[in-house]
Amino acid sequence: MWRVGERNGRGKPLKHMDYIRTEVIEVNAESPEPTVIERAAMLLRHGEIVVFPTETVYGLGADAFQPAAVERIFAAKGRPFSDPLIVHIADEHELELLTTTIPTEAKRLAREFWPGPLTLILPRGQRVPYRVTAGLETVAIRMPRHPVAQALISALGSPIAAPSANRFMHISPTTAHHVLTDLSGRVPFILNAGPCEIGVESTVLDLCSDEPRILRPGGISLEALRTILPDVQPPMQRNIEVEDEETLVKKAPGQLLTHYAPTVPLLLFDGSIEAMYTAMLTEIARRCEQKEHVGVLIAEEDIPTFEDSGALIYSPGSVDDLIKVAANLYAGLRTLEDANVQVILCRNFGEQGLGLAIRDRLLKAAGGKIRN
Ligand code: TXA
Ligand code: MG
Repeated sequence: MWRVGERNGRGKPLKHMDYIRTEVIEVNAESPEPTVIERAAMLLRHGEIVVFPTETVYGLGADAFQPAAVERIFAAKGRPFSDPLIVHIADEHELELLTTTIPTEAKRLAREFWPGPLTLILPRGQRVPYRVTAGLETVAIRMPRHPVAQALISALGSPIAAPSANRFMHISPTTAHHVLTDLSGRVPFILNAGPCEIGVESTVLDLCSDEPRILRPGGISLEALRTILPDVQPPMQRNIEVEDEETLVKKAPGQLLTHYAPTVPLLLFDGSIEAMYTAMLTEIARRCEQKEHVGVLIAEEDIPTFEDSGALIYSPGSVDDLIKVAANLYAGLRTLEDANVQVILCRNFGEQGLGLAIRDRLLKAAGGKIRN
């Protein structure tokens, strides 16, 4: 059993909290067993935190109306209180509990994309604790479509505040095993419903500014959003060097350039296919000569080019199937991490559709730097 000061599965010392026993319970993804859901809902009712699957990634939830329970999420993740949480609902009526105004745009987007991977930033309703919004007068709301998430929110009868169920700054988990790697001994209960379908987090769309703007690209593409709201703006280009994480989280919640990072350095390559291949192969050769253990994350069609390069290969799918690439992306980064590579070289997968979200996560993992 781990104790305070000892090390957990990721090799980081446990700080500020005692080791607790983590129970993993299998639950049917399509028709979750009511007894299992009720156990999880009971824990939430008593102010505990519970890990549950969504169609994007696994979430670490607490009853959104219990500030003390919400605080446990931050402690378990090691996340600063300055980074606000998404509130998950199962029914559109719950919107009225959470926000003061429901603009027409929000109604139209909700009709088209909820339940699903879209998070809307709306004015904070009075009942929403500041612990959830990090003191902001806005609140992030999403209606997940995963049957287990829906069943849990309905059983609790209250919205669930939940970030991704990873340690702060690490890659989001798309399997219960990923959650255990990061949070074993720090959370009491994990509902395991198998791998998440989408694999990247929800799109966060700000509806509280002059024009609707994507704050974080995700499971719903910019193109899809524009079919409903043609003036949706793409995410702002950021070039913030990470010097003081706490300050940056305040300035731009969730927009740190080294968010979602694997525990090993990642180099992101861009440019024409030929230039990308040449630059990557040169880098691999240089590092292999120095006896470095190199991992590459590439498309299926790149495999013949890298087969004899000496690097460990992971391919999440073809550039022509970004749905598959997104679904396997975080598992790929974790697989390479677990294989103890010292660096991950990664290709660019384009910016169309889900490509924007994939690029955003890879760019953040690469600390905002691109190699041409
Ligand atoms: O798919 C998802 O969105 C997953 C699942 C569990 O629902 N959740 C997730 O939560 O990715 P988290 O906490 O890892 O990311 C939420 C993002 C953060 O970047 C946070 O800064 C931003 O949403 N956010 C939350 N409330 C906000 C607000 N009021 N204004 C601006 N950004 C906000
Ligand atoms: Mg997260």
